[in-house]
Amino acid sequence: MSLADDVEEVLIPEEVLRARVQELGRQISSDYEGKQPLLVGILTGAVFFVSDLMRAITIPCHLDFMATSAYGTGTENTGVVRILKDLNESIEGRHVLVVDDIVDTGLTMDYLLTTLKARYPASLAVCVLLDKAERRRREVPLRYVGFRIPDRFVVGYGMDYAGLYRNLPYLCVLKPEVYR
Ligand code: IMP
Repeated sequence: MSLADDVEEVLIPEEVLRARVQELGRQISSDYEGKQPLLVGILTGAVFFVSDLMRAITIPCHLDFMATSAYGTGTENTGVVRILKDLNESIEGRHVLVVDDIVDTGLTMDYLLTTLKARYPASLAVCVLLDKAERRRREVPLRYVGFRIPDRFVVGYGMDYAGLYRNLPYLCVLKPEVYR
């Protein structure tokens, strides 16, 4: 059995993803020139994105991770966020760029930004691969957006359904029977 058998439609192919991540890396390198930003990757969904993005950045930069979890499983966010793993380093006085896979309702990012802002970074911005703007319940400032996507549940390139499909190299929608 191959994971690809469960794919209904590829929304963003691998080459398109790769090209956009390179563009974002160039843009960030130019915007943060002279600043040594700290990339904060949000586990687990953003692992491939942040590792590709960091390699597309040509200025000196640092990397740390946080893990959050929305209570509940499946495809609905209940709005309650927990920090499962906090940063290893202090962000006081640093230029922090939060790197996440997707902003959907915005509840997770809103909570994260409030938490990080309270730690006195020199600057705080967000780079997100996917923006599902239609579903937004909290307005969150997104400085860098890879792609705006419609309201569909996507997997691949680090994003999962029930813990699976992260290793698909493209972004796709699964067949409805997978959810039954
Ligand atoms: P928000 O708090 O509703 O913005 O949701 C953010 C989190 O929900 C993301 O970091 C993902 O973990 C998860 N999520 C939202 N939409 C999708 C999707 O289409 N596929 C996979 N995970 C998703």
